[in-house]
Amino acid sequence: MIVKSVAVLVLSVLIGYIVYKNQISDSTEVEQEIISSWSESISLPNNQFRKLLVGINSNVDLIVPGVELLLQLNITPGDDFNHDQLFTLDHLQETFSHFFKKGSAAERAFMDADLFRKIVSEAEKLSNPQFYIGGNAALIGNKIALEFPKVELHLVGPVGPKLLELLPKSITIPKMSHIPKDEVHLIMEYQVEESWGNHTAPVATRFITSFDESNSKATMIESFFQYSKNVNPDLIILSGLHLLEGQSPDFFNQKLLFIQNELVKIPNTTPVHLELASMANQKFVKAIADQIVSKVSSLGLNEQEITFLSHAAKGPHSDYFENIQGQPEIHKISDIILWVLKTHGYSKESPSRKLTRVHFHCLTYHIIGIHSSAWRNNPSAVGAGTRVAGVQACDVESPDPDLVTLKFPQQFKLFSGDKERTFNESQPIMTWKKDGFHFALSPVLVCKQPLKTVGLGDSISATGLMFSEFVTDFHR
Ligand SMILES: *[C@@H]1O[C@H](CO)[C@@H](O)[C@H](O)[C@H]1NC(C)=O
Ligand SMILES: *[C@@H]1O[C@H](CO)[C@@H](O)[C@H](O)[C@H]1NC(C)=O
Repeated sequence: MIVKSVAVLVLSVLIGYIVYKNQISDSTEVEQEIISSWSESISLPNNQFRKLLVGINSNVDLIVPGVELLLQLNITPGDDFNHDQLFTLDHLQETFSHFFKKGSAAERAFMDADLFRKIVSEAEKLSNPQFYIGGNAALIGNKIALEFPKVELHLVGPVGPKLLELLPKSITIPKMSHIPKDEVHLIMEYQVEESWGNHTAPVATRFITSFDESNSKATMIESFFQYSKNVNPDLIILSGLHLLEGQSPDFFNQKLLFIQNELVKIPNTTPVHLELASMANQKFVKAIADQIVSKVSSLGLNEQEITFLSHAAKGPHSDYFENIQGQPEIHKISDIILWVLKTHGYSKESPSRKLTRVHFHCLTYHIIGIHSSAWRNNPSAVGAGTRVAGVQACDVESPDPDLVTLKFPQQFKLFSGDKERTFNESQPIMTWKKDGFHFALSPVLVCKQPLKTVGLGDSISATGLMFSEFVTDFHR
């Protein structure tokens, strides 16, 4: 009898729970509650960064309808083939078709400067060419200049006349950044069910190509470090190293060595943040991990990059990179962050290493792991970064519960060996300590119909930094 009534009780509690869950997931109450909790708990640090230097990749994104451009160029539909690099219009057609048919986004370097210039000038003649700010450094600079107008921001990167027009006037762009012609990245968009020859696109996405000498060879890197000595910033943000991937190993290694030497010379009181972006070459990724990561204070990356770091260096969950499906599991990512901080970060045993902060961002949540006494305001930093993700993707001024949705697991572990936890929307920002490091996690309210996804990672990292405070005497 007792067993039976206990069973009934358990069952009815369970049903009640399921009904309750369904109710809340149908409404926007959870989202509203998270937004309120954020606004109660997120605050700016006492000492904000005031003078920033950002570099070194910048360009103009030219967005056009892809099929229309191919027609304009008198390119007729034909076979598809996946070329690694594009030398001719046939290569462009074949590679475009290849990805168009699959509906996957792709980016390929164009190898013929004159031909690429011709393609761009045809693209500019189309009915509605749209020019946007592109490149991680320019996007980070733009975000900070717009959101934090009091900050003095210097941008070193290739800036042509068009990009100069697009960037906020408040950004200081030194003479050395100016180039006579913009580096243009051609973004060939297509819509779902659009057709090209006898192919139909299964989803809406884009094919990107560029001939970008300045960024692919990091031509501004010497000026960047030179200039940093002149302006004496209190935060340096560096991005664009991934673009060196197209170069020979010799060229790559030389640049990396130069960057390493320059980073070592930067005073310990000035933190350097490195923003990583997708790379395919494992050797290059490993070289960046081994030579650069311990020479910067802070690292920003997403699930592709962090799982690849662990994969390339045989860290924890090192096979996760190859079999990750859907959104990354929280405890695995946090294990890898801890490993990055221990492997490349500052410790009493390795006092010359600078890394004290890792900012991880993916579609559904972000985590910032820090050395507990090197940074302040970590929960606000991670919260502000997640808040800006949904706001920017939806292209609105402030969080709107109707436009976003929580895609966070109800049950999760914060790290391997942790107890099973249940998500509580009244406490969306979670913090914990492990092995002397401090972690903060916040879910993203994911935009249901995203309008602006370019530069999302850049905005997240920039916002997270502006809500962080570096303890300048930490290394003393
Ligand atoms: C697609 O078009 C090409 C070129 O016109 C042709 O050779 C090929 O047979 C067509 N494929 C299909 C599946 O119709
Ligand atoms: C969720 O968090 C709120 C605010 O801290 C707290 O009052 C409430 O008890 C928590 N709910 C659960 C189920 O733990």
